[in-house]
Amino acid sequence: MAAIRASLTLVASTSSSSSSVFTKLRSSRFSGLSFSVIPLCSRRGRRMAHALARATLGLTQPAHIETPKICFAAKEVDLVEWKGDILAVGVTEKDLAKDENLKFHNAILNKLDSQLGGLLSEASSEEEFSGKVGQSTILRLPGLCTKRVGLIGLGQCSLASSTAAYRSLGEAVASAAKASQANSVAVVLASSEGLSAESKLQTASAIATGAVLGTYEDNRFKIEEAPLKSVDFFGLGTGPELEKKLKYAEDVCAGIILGKELVNAPANVLTPGVLAEEAKKIASMYSDVVSATILDVDQCKELKMGSYLGVAAASANPPHFIHLCYKPPSGPVKTKLALVGKGLTFDSGGYNIKTGPGCSIELMKFDMAGSAAVLGAAKALGQIKPPGVEVHFIVAACENMISGTGMRPGDVVTASNGKTIEVNNTDAEGRLTLADALVYACNQGAEKIVDLATLTGACRVALGPSIAGIFTPSDDLAKEVLGASEFTGEKLWRMPMEESYWDSMKSGIADMVNTGGRQGGAITAALFLKQFVDEKVQWMHIDMAGPVWNDKKTAATGFGVSTLVEWVLKNSS
Ligand code: BES
Ligand code: MN
Ligand code: ZN
Repeated sequence: MAAIRASLTLVASTSSSSSSVFTKLRSSRFSGLSFSVIPLCSRRGRRMAHALARATLGLTQPAHIETPKICFAAKEVDLVEWKGDILAVGVTEKDLAKDENLKFHNAILNKLDSQLGGLLSEASSEEEFSGKVGQSTILRLPGLCTKRVGLIGLGQCSLASSTAAYRSLGEAVASAAKASQANSVAVVLASSEGLSAESKLQTASAIATGAVLGTYEDNRFKIEEAPLKSVDFFGLGTGPELEKKLKYAEDVCAGIILGKELVNAPANVLTPGVLAEEAKKIASMYSDVVSATILDVDQCKELKMGSYLGVAAASANPPHFIHLCYKPPSGPVKTKLALVGKGLTFDSGGYNIKTGPGCSIELMKFDMAGSAAVLGAAKALGQIKPPGVEVHFIVAACENMISGTGMRPGDVVTASNGKTIEVNNTDAEGRLTLADALVYACNQGAEKIVDLATLTGACRVALGPSIAGIFTPSDDLAKEVLGASEFTGEKLWRMPMEESYWDSMKSGIADMVNTGGRQGGAITAALFLKQFVDEKVQWMHIDMAGPVWNDKKTAATGFGVSTLVEWVLKNSS
């Protein structure tokens, strides 16, 4: 009856940063706000005009909310004696096989069923529960110490599909807890004996991740508390290794949640300046390993970032170039990496304004999701502190707006590596900002660079809403990142970098144009980025225009964080 308490606190929010300027949104009152007319010609006047513009934009102001916490523990008590709200049993289709007397072959199901006098077997048949992924049934049955028993489908659960299936088991547990206002849940797999010690840990971590992310809701406009407080694990290992694994899941979840909150925040709240503040907050929270450098317009001019500054030129909210640097707490650095994220806090299209049905202009606050993934990874890595690896997190943050100071279609801009670009379409702005960010990343001495961007509608059309396209000339890097994504369950698909398509990017007046034809739009975008990366650097571009957003939940997915963290850990020693 030894109940081993390896209790961990999962902080399912970034909200230890209680002073966060963007995380909690609530409409504020006119608290003595006074308005006056300010001449817009002086520098000081312009600065104040920005502040005023922000204060009048919907009056949305930050507020504080509670930090939801879930405790995870490994349990060794007898299953049938576990006291709590829901005992959730993960079952594969195979586990549900019964003999002619409707008795389960599976030992755990059989044990529970005997305790329940056959009710479990009966109910599972009546509910037509066949154990497919996404299927779950929660039963209120007398005869056990738990209030409810849940059967949650894991499908066939082959090794390849397991991370995703276990994560969705965690999510199903979270939504069952939500539906029945349950505080405490226990999770057991009907057949966990076959799993190796390593896969047990991986399984527990995937379930914990699903439970935390499934419980988390971006309720910054509402005041609602998640009921789920504790999850106990049966049969998935105990002790320090499990604790370590769950701590890792906790750190990654904190990064994913930060990523989601950054993307969900509206563009009037999350301006480039506020994004830079959030980055600085990460550096001050993990100041032992993370440092921040933020460049203003003048500093970017000095670095000759004409391509990035061209995009930023129309906006009343000035650009901020964000650079965080992670260095391990001790020991030598063996590998230098850079993560570069597209950070358009809003993309109106510019003079090539986004019009017409399906252009999704109202969703373009999510056009900084690449940077959200990069900053989410920075937060997670600040907590994990991997040895032997230096990581640069780089975001050329700005807005793509329209005004008299803005870039015109047909303008020629010059990037910081000296290459000139004829801007034949102002809506292909992400690549213009990434160009200078990639040059900067190479100048930091990065040996491997991964950039993430909601770059093209074409990639969304090609791969749909749940798969990101990856583009890289390096087979080795492709293997590394694809390996990391298999571990995290995020879906990536390698796309070709067809050099012959570069023909459509030729300009009569400059070194290149910024958009080719409609065809192969995701590929020509990747070929454009390649112009700004040193050949000796291993580089990958990830186009996450599809998986950035969950249309059903109308919310950010937090895509990219977990795979980036996993990739960095693969490169650590
Ligand atoms: N941010 C968009 C890409 C995008 C569109 C992401 C829809 C997610 C959903 C990007 O800046 C853009 O506007 N790309 C253009 C490129 C075109 C002008 C070559 C596009 O995809 O239409
Ligand atoms: Mn655009
Ligand atoms: Zn964009």
